[in-house]
Amino acid sequence: MHSHRRSVNAPTVHRAHVRSGVRQEAGDADADQDAQGREFAWTQADFSRVQSLIYQHAGINLHNGKHAMVYSRLSRRLRETGHNSFRDYLGWLESCDGPEWQEFVNALTTNLTAFFREQHHFEIFAQLLRTRPAGPWSVWCSAASTGEEPYSIVMTALEALQPRAQFKLTASDIDSNVLATAARGVYRLEGLKGLSQAQLQRFFMRGKGDNAGLARVRPELRQPIDFLSVNLIRDGWPFREPFDAVFCRNVMIYFDEPTQRRVLERIHRVLKPGGMLFVGHAENFTDARDLFVLRGKTVYERI
Ligand SMILES: C[S@@+](CC[C@H](N)C(=O)[O-])C[C@H]1O[C@@H](n2cnc3c(N)ncnc32)[C@H](O)[C@@H]1O
Repeated sequence: MHSHRRSVNAPTVHRAHVRSGVRQEAGDADADQDAQGREFAWTQADFSRVQSLIYQHAGINLHNGKHAMVYSRLSRRLRETGHNSFRDYLGWLESCDGPEWQEFVNALTTNLTAFFREQHHFEIFAQLLRTRPAGPWSVWCSAASTGEEPYSIVMTALEALQPRAQFKLTASDIDSNVLATAARGVYRLEGLKGLSQAQLQRFFMRGKGDNAGLARVRPELRQPIDFLSVNLIRDGWPFREPFDAVFCRNVMIYFDEPTQRRVLERIHRVLKPGGMLFVGHAENFTDARDLFVLRGKTVYERI
């Protein structure tokens, strides 16, 4: 799967099936079960094959503690594609170049996210924006998941910048399902608890009737964002102009060190000198001091 520019349109869905960012596990098996009580036989060889395929395609480094998670998530793919064993499914997957690759990757990504997750980043980002309140600003959110992070970035910008300031955000992910959810911009009200009343009123429309309990982002919040599919580990990122800031949070944690280094080198190439890189709370790139200097808690400046 190559990173390519593919915009995601927001479908006009009212009561959308919204994933809150926490992946739903595959349903319980109801068919015949193997000796371990599983629906499909599952071996170390199957797991190793999955490990190698997801590493090659997405850079995700699945450690051995992930057996149950992988079995559960991929069992659903076996059911949906009509395969009776992991061996058959994986053999079929490897022999084709079709859309199942996207489903395979979607099944194995972890998409946990939240509005204003790691609040301190948004305070630093707002301070940065206020240094040039009329813009222009161009920002990339590179592991956007279900949209909570890109919409938090745009809320921060709309609050910090002057009215009509130029601000655009590119929001991308490898997982096509979460990107569609992000582009749709419909969330459960419980997921919006961390937002202020002022933010809720300004940026969201509450659903009524069948849509009670849901809220949709207003056009003001959606309009500055271009959603597209980008694989962080593939060459050929589709960007022409360098960014002022990049959010790459809680995704490199799934990559091994050589992959992290290659991604950091590419991010360095798409950031303006002096541009800021925001990373996740468990990610530390102080070793890449030839590329970035630490400027705050998990915030780096591009050299
Ligand atoms: C745990 S979520 C983090 C979401 C958000 N950045 C945050 O911090 O709340 C990790 C996201 O990275 C995405 N991802 C994993 N591998 C990727 C890759 N190779 N390229 C782009 N995105 C990837 C996953 O699909 C998932 O949505």
